[in-house]
Amino acid sequence: MNTNPTTWLITGAAGFIGMHTSLRLLERDDKVIGLDNLNDYYDVFLKQARLAKLQPHASFTFTRLMWLTAMAWQPCLLTKSLGALSVWRRRAGDREHP
Ligand SMILES: NC(=O)c1ccc[n+]([C@@H]2O[C@H](COP(=O)([O-])OP(=O)(O)OC[C@H]3O[C@@H](n4cnc5c(N)ncnc54)[C@H](O)[C@@H]3O)[C@@H](O)[C@H]2O)c1
Repeated sequence: MNTNPTTWLITGAAGFIGMHTSLRLLERDDKVIGLDNLNDYYDVFLKQARLAKLQPHASFTFTRLMWLTAMAWQPCLLTKSLGALSVWRRRAGDREHP
């Protein structure tokens, strides 16, 4: 049992890398805050199926949100001890910057 869990902010949590990373972290009893805008770059049902594998974990919370919007949370996030991993893919024409 992990007696000192880390809370991770994972952007792109419904993506391939984000989901598998989140799953490993949850399996070692860390906490995961998942963000994803569920864009339609490819089939959204695939992303929803990935989220369905994470959502049974009590330590997983998910918000459908664009990363830029999440940046507005920064003052709040800075008050917490957070590990963060950003695994989203930028598309041509996206106006958002990392
Ligand atoms: N999959 C691989 O084998 C691989 C290998 C090397 C590098 N990468 C890189 O790793 C990153 C992730 O890869 P992946 O395969 O998981 O991609 P993916 O497209 O499956 O996942 C990215 C997720 O990010 C979400 N997203 C995109 N823009 C967002 C935003 N602004 N705010 C919130 N969510 C947003 C998408 O909805 C998607 O679910 C990419 O940059 C990719 O180029 C992937």
